Amino acid sequence: MPTAPLSHAAVDAATGGMVTPVAQILSLGAYLPDAVLSNADMERMVDTSDTWIVERTGIRERRRAAPGETPSVMGARAAAEALERAGNVVPDAIIVATCSAETRFPSTACLIQQKLGLGGMPAFDINAACSGFIYGLSLADAMIRSRAAGTVLVVAAEALTTIVDYTDRSTCVLFGDGAAAAVVGTGGGGGGIRALRCAADGADADLIYFGARPEDPGGPHALRMSGRGTFRTAVERITDVAARVCADAGWHPSEVDWFVPHQANARIIEAAAKRLRVSMDRVILNVDRVGNTSAASIPLALHEAAASGRLRPGQKIVSVAFGSGITWAGLAFEWTGSPSR
Ligand code: UT7
Repeated sequence: MPTAPLSHAAVDAATGGMVTPVAQILSLGAYLPDAVLSNADMERMVDTSDTWIVERTGIRERRRAAPGETPSVMGARAAAEALERAGNVVPDAIIVATCSAETRFPSTACLIQQKLGLGGMPAFDINAACSGFIYGLSLADAMIRSRAAGTVLVVAAEALTTIVDYTDRSTCVLFGDGAAAAVVGTGGGGGGIRALRCAADGADADLIYFGARPEDPGGPHALRMSGRGTFRTAVERITDVAARVCADAGWHPSEVDWFVPHQANARIIEAAAKRLRVSMDRVILNVDRVGNTSAASIPLALHEAAASGRLRPGQKIVSVAFGSGITWAGLAFEWTGSPSR
């Protein structure tokens, strides 16, 4: 028998053995700003080269939001597509994952709710940085399994180029902007979420943070990162959580049809795939074209893979993420029959 993930076991216990609904990703939506920031553009901004960026990260270009193209604007566009694909369903809750919100309050979720012309259902943000989409899905999954909600809209929206330090070559070449959304519910014709794990360790909070440079505490606030430490920890955490969610779901990694990891750096993904003995032709990669879009990265990659016809109903998919906090998370699910409706 596969070991049940903790959140699922807790809900099963709380519902006293009732048949628990299986949450499914019913549809996806995505939005990328039009403006492209190429490696040639980066060469004009900092002391870097296309060769260095491609060799160390796999990134060739990323998108940059225009003024006014905020996380709520991008998130609302992605959400509208996802809701339409799910048959214009009215969600019972709106959860937004972001670490680059345009305001401290109201939440980006409430701003998206306003832009979509919705009201009444709870709407709130979560910040688990790059792990935010899987964290958001875990809340949606728990709400659906406990029957607190029938359908949940999970949005991930980031404008990282507004918080990056464009004088720091070791971070500014990595990040891009974008948004993606998923409608999570039931009745999608088979498949669904089989295992989820979310974790964090605040002891490593200083690996990636928003603030001043340590050597200039009164200086400007921006995204700061210890690259090598993050790289090493990321490979360890995502390899471990991928193996755990596979075991939770009762799958061997060799049975998984697609790995859709957080798109931080192609080398991190290749190192984790090697440890898991997964060949790169079973890994969805779009980091070359969008860079690291934090919480939006996994749903953007899923949306692209679905749109290109690579994902088929019933296929086994594992997603893993890692980010500031530090946070990490893993998800094992079967693709449903309905994402293209
Ligand atoms: O979303 C999750 C959070 N982020 C991540 O997962 C990122 C994790 N880390 C990384 O992806 C990598 O550590 C980086 C891509 C950020 C850096 O790659 P690296 O191979 O770890 O390089 P490094 O930091 O060890 O730096 C090597 C050299 C240094 O020069 P010296 O000291 O050897 O002379 C850096 O100054 O590369 C230099 N360097 C650059 N050179 C050209 C750093 N950034 C650049 C750059 N262009 N953009």
